[in-house]
Amino acid sequence: MENRNRTGIPGWKRGLLTAVVGIGMVLAAGAYREQSTEQEQAETLAGYDAAESVSGEKKKIALTFDDGPHPVYTEQLLDGLSERNVKATFFLLGCNIEGNEEIVRRIAEEGHLLGNHTFYHVDITKLSREEACAEILDTSSKITEITDQPVEYVRPPFGNWNQDLECEVMMIPVFWTVDTLDWSTRNADRLVEEVVSEVEENDIILMHDSYDSTVRAALRIIDLLQAQGYEFVTVDELILE
Ligand code: NI
Repeated sequence: MENRNRTGIPGWKRGLLTAVVGIGMVLAAGAYREQSTEQEQAETLAGYDAAESVSGEKKKIALTFDDGPHPVYTEQLLDGLSERNVKATFFLLGCNIEGNEEIVRRIAEEGHLLGNHTFYHVDITKLSREEACAEILDTSSKITEITDQPVEYVRPPFGNWNQDLECEVMMIPVFWTVDTLDWSTRNADRLVEEVVSEVEENDIILMHDSYDSTVRAALRIIDLLQAQGYEFVTVDELILE
């Protein structure tokens, strides 16, 4: 579970995220424009293509799933993502990894991004430095043991992050722009409708792979938004762009 307000993050965080992504998009768009004139002209001749954003690139969006791995629903989700050739981001709880190591391995092997959601779903800002770092480092090392890959991203539970926190490794916090409140709704139809009607280019969507309704909704959302030309990417592509 995350915050209970609609956007899930304080306005300043959303603003900051938007600003960072915005600057990135402007830079990316500038670099892209030079090499794509020919392609753009061809597209202009072909008429307006809803699949493309102003920059001429495909509109990107990131699905993120917190609180897993779940022994049943994570694999159902992975099956559906694989069928659709879609990559997503999974922020794992350290305490859910034991017994589900094969699922964690599969997430990594299938090209999804793995991130850290603390060990026991704690509010990092309410802990001492030692406790906070243990929450993060223990979770990362469990993931790395299985995947042999470093963990660079953290989704702070409740969106509460301490910018001054210094552990042995630097973590990049990842917030969200659309909070589906799927843990509360548990209704696939409503989730699909809300997300599809609200979503915009570069959105980071927060969901939880802990519910059957979320898995069903996520796959339908993908089908509908792919048809509208969206491309699903892992969050690093949106944040570092
Ligand atoms: Ni959570």
